[in-house]
Amino acid sequence: MAKEPVAPAMVLQVRATAPQPPVLNPKPRSFAEGVFAYDTDSDGKPGTDADLFAIIKNGSAPYGGAATMPGRPDLSDDEIHALVAYVRALKN
Ligand code: HEM
Repeated sequence: MAKEPVAPAMVLQVRATAPQPPVLNPKPRSFAEGVFAYDTDSDGKPGTDADLFAIIKNGSAPYGGAATMPGRPDLSDDEIHALVAYVRALKN
């Protein structure tokens, strides 16, 4: 099966500025705000590149979050780093 590093949720998040019915509970972060919840390495700073990397790779459930954010352990480290950079680029 072909790899799809950019998931439909990304598209939903980019479109999330328009009013819409809830599609996921909890909602994914608005990447436009650039504010992130998880401190996966417990360094006291949530939302570092290392945290985003871990969330994208493992999902948020292992860090006490929702099972609705799936991990992508099938992606290479380079691909995950590229996604971290992409998520950062969505900040307003
Ligand atoms: C490769 C694709 C994806 C990337 C790069 C990505 C990235 C992220 C990031 C960076 C966060 C925020 C973590 C934080 O606040 O610390 C997040 C949260 C979330 N994502 Fe994704 N995501 C992806 C795919 C998906 C998919 C496919 C879904 C659901 C269909 C999803 C649902 C969620 C939800 C519900 C949250 C909030 C989780 C929580 O608060 O526990 N994501 N995602």
